[in-house]
Amino acid sequence: MKGLIIINAYPNGEKFFRQAERIAEELCALGIETDVLRNGEVYAGVNEDGSIYAKLPKKYGFAIYLDKDKYLGKMLERSGLRLFNCATAVELCDDKMLTALALDNAGVKLAESIPAPLCYTPQAKADEQFLLNVAKKLGFPLVVKKSYGSFGAGVQLVHGMPELIQTANEFLYSPHFYQRYVAEAAGRDIRVIVIGGKAVAAMERVAKDGEFRSNIELGGKGKNAPLTAEIAEVAERAAKALKLDYCGVDLLQSKEGLIVCEVNSNAFFEGFEAATGVNVAKLYAKYVLSAIESPCKDGKKY
Ligand SMILES: Nc1ncnc2c1ncn2[C@@H]1O[C@H](COP(=O)(O)OP(=O)(O)O)[C@@H](O)[C@H]1O
Ligand SMILES: [Mg+2]
Repeated sequence: MKGLIIINAYPNGEKFFRQAERIAEELCALGIETDVLRNGEVYAGVNEDGSIYAKLPKKYGFAIYLDKDKYLGKMLERSGLRLFNCATAVELCDDKMLTALALDNAGVKLAESIPAPLCYTPQAKADEQFLLNVAKKLGFPLVVKKSYGSFGAGVQLVHGMPELIQTANEFLYSPHFYQRYVAEAAGRDIRVIVIGGKAVAAMERVAKDGEFRSNIELGGKGKNAPLTAEIAEVAERAAKALKLDYCGVDLLQSKEGLIVCEVNSNAFFEGFEAATGVNVAKLYAKYVLSAIESPCKDGKKY
């Protein structure tokens, strides 16, 4: 059996290649050869009769999907290929507000979040009455987040009505939402990697001075953190509810307990491996093989 790893057509830096290479290396050590293809090197689309095609250069037993492109993922699945993660899970995680909606009844706490009404009208202005209601409900400071975004970009803390109105207008044509600020967690979060439903390690990230976002890309520092039973349970619940084979769950420690901040279907593991000493790529490769060898009835592990 051969495996396939798919990366985005426009990789933004070396770490995208390294992530693919590390997984390929660990699969190779387990006797599985893989090819790495970019989205765009796979010919896929919809025929005139409405049928879907996805033409791959060879026959593959599975694909590790490191892209977030929901279209190609769905077409590959339609062609019968098992994706790690499945296309729907990637789609849900790519949109932070959809993630929150999908975690309904998952038995995890979230920070209260109110989506901004989507705007399709040119030259519109943000609805100030709506924003007043948001401010009344969430209080200041509050967090404004673009639904699509990574590395802390598109996440802002706003302190009063003028700033809220200004940010709402700047974000008007990007899906975004307003979130309660978890002040106790300011500048800190816990990243947990979950593979095949099992939390494997935890890393605490601490933001640089004066920054409330703990993203490494914004100067945050990661260090190994104890993987307590509570941390593992919350992260595993989130991963399971979203049917993820692999993910990084970000948790905020609040007065009321752990809050799921974000679930990353495509979490980079290089920094996490360095901080925790856990070989994430190896555990993921092992899991992929076990899931392929003994799938559940529907071909999925869950
Ligand atoms: N509601 C919140 N309260 C306090 N800190 C937050 C909140 N939401 C996000 N953060 C901080 O901002 C960081 C980035 O937010 P996140 O939603 O994970 O966006 P991204 O996808 O860009 O990483 C988090 O890791 C956390 O440190
Ligand atoms: Mg994050």
